[in-house]
Order: sequence, then structure tokens, then C-alpha cells
Amino acid sequence: MPKPRVFLTREIPEAGMRLVRDSCDPEIWPHEVPPSREDLLRAVRNKAGLLSLLTDPIDAEIMDAAPDLTVISNCAVGVDNIDVGAATARRIPVGNTPGVLTDATADMAFALLLAAARHIVPAVEYVRAGKWKTWNLQLLLGADLAGRTLGIVGFGRIGQAVARRAQGFALQVMYHDPGVAESPIAIPVTLERLLKEADFVSLHVPLTADTLHLINEQSLGLMKSTAVLVNTSRGAVVDHQALYHALKHGRILAAGLDVTEPEPLAVDSPLLNLPNCVVVPHLGSASRWTRNQMALLAAQNLVAGLEKRRLPNCVNPEVYD
Ligand code: GLV
Repeated sequence: MPKPRVFLTREIPEAGMRLVRDSCDPEIWPHEVPPSREDLLRAVRNKAGLLSLLTDPIDAEIMDAAPDLTVISNCAVGVDNIDVGAATARRIPVGNTPGVLTDATADMAFALLLAAARHIVPAVEYVRAGKWKTWNLQLLLGADLAGRTLGIVGFGRIGQAVARRAQGFALQVMYHDPGVAESPIAIPVTLERLLKEADFVSLHVPLTADTLHLINEQSLGLMKSTAVLVNTSRGAVVDHQALYHALKHGRILAAGLDVTEPEPLAVDSPLLNLPNCVVVPHLGSASRWTRNQMALLAAQNLVAGLEKRRLPNCVNPEVYD
């Protein structure tokens, strides 16, 4: 019996590759940059499974180009690159990789929070430029954490993991998430109160029509001029033009961004010229163990779909109704 044919839009870490090779006949996109739309349309044509990354827009046209498609497995927890409604309408289960990247992403949120609050990037540049002459009482003074307030927007797995870390830094924690009524370590508040009162604001919502540009000129205007914004969710949750103006004109103190709109951020983006904006290239889940686990979950979802079993992590379980 021939193995089912699948398309992987990139090679995934070994833990997942092994399972894919054992169970499937894979075509793997060999380049660092994602396949173009034409490449994707061509590659899925005769495939029973698709393993995608968050860089790959998978919409109804892609699905219709693949009449044999029985599963879409995204190697990410977020699935905003996939038209899940279109997949459900075609009874194609969509898999994702929740849980395993919670801690790594929460760590990155804290790394960015500390980097932005304590001017780590300008400080490194200062040393590299040979400007370090002596210990200076007034040099690169940053924001304190202890006793201040962290506001977490989106209190799911990752938001809660950020709250746990915040306890170790003696931060008070408030959160906004209509889906989470209470927490033993944080107080639920309205988004408006959070933005007005928090010294640090960390974003942990999925990108949806409701969260697109949730942080915009108006919401930035509510924040303290001493506040730090951290985004490890999706770039488009923040209106970057509004953020640029807020940072440039001191309406907020600093920002730490793991995600941008678009990705990659153009090298001539004005955000990159601001000393109070730290940008890293979407590395939230980028630790060795985490990426291996994500690859394994993605491969398990793919193989389950091909074998017509329920995906271990399925974002549209209604396909099984
Ligand atoms: C990363 O951003 C993910 O959604 O897994």
C-alpha cells in the first residue's frame, strides 16, 4: 500500500520529520522563504495532507486546488493564517500545537519586557561603540518592576504563564479576558482600566477580526507615558503606525515586539530607528525542546488526519459532528 502523499511547506525539526517519513510520502519545500501562492497551489494538487507554518496563507482556493486533502496541520498554536471556516465547510480538520510552547513564549514576553524596561539593546550598543568610560549614576535609567502593575490582555495559557512569572518579580497583575472570570493570581478588569493603570502591558490574544489593531491610537492614548508595551501574540493586534508615533513622541516609554505587521518587518521600518523599541524576529517558541515538541505534535496531527483518526489537537472539532 503506497504511503499517502503530503506537502510540508518547510522541513520541520527531526522529532516530527521522523514520524512524517515513517508514515507518509512527503514533498518538502526546500527553501528558507515560504512557497509562493503559485507554488503552494501546484504542490497541494495531488496531496492528502498539508503541513503548514504560520507564514503560509491557506485559504479556500488552496483547499479547492487539493481535492484529496484530508488534513491541514499547522506547526504553530495560532491558526490565523488558515481560513478555518473554509476548512470546516469542506470537513477538513485543522490541527495546531498548543501547550508545548506556553513557557517558551511567556519567557520571551518577559525577556522583551525586561529588555525594553531596562534599555538592554541601547546598553549593548553603547558598550560596543566604546562609549563606556566609567560607572555613571545617571546612565540609561530604566523602569522598576517590583510593586508596579502588569496588565495582561488575553488570559489563556500563555497569558497565565506570564502572570506566574510576574509573581517572581513582585508585580501586581491584572488581566482583561472576557472568557476568564477569575484567577487566584490576577484581577480581572476592563480593557480600558488595564490600559490606564498598567505600567507594563503584555498582549496574548489570538488575531481575529475583534483583535485586529486592538492597540491603536486611541488605546495607546489611554496608556501611561511611562508604560511599556510587549507583543508576543500577532503583529496585527497592534497598529504599527500608531505605535511608532506613541514611541516617537513619548506617549509611552518603550515597546518590545516579537511579532510585527508585516513579517518580516522591512529593514527601513521607522520602528527600527527608535531606541525605545526592541524588535526580534518572531522567536517566542524558538527554543530547542519547544520546537521539537511542536514538530512532533504537528506530525501527529498530520498522521492522525491521514488515518481518519481524530486529530490530537484540532481547532475545528465540529468536523467530527
Ligand atoms: C507562534 O506564533 C505560534 O502561533 O505558534
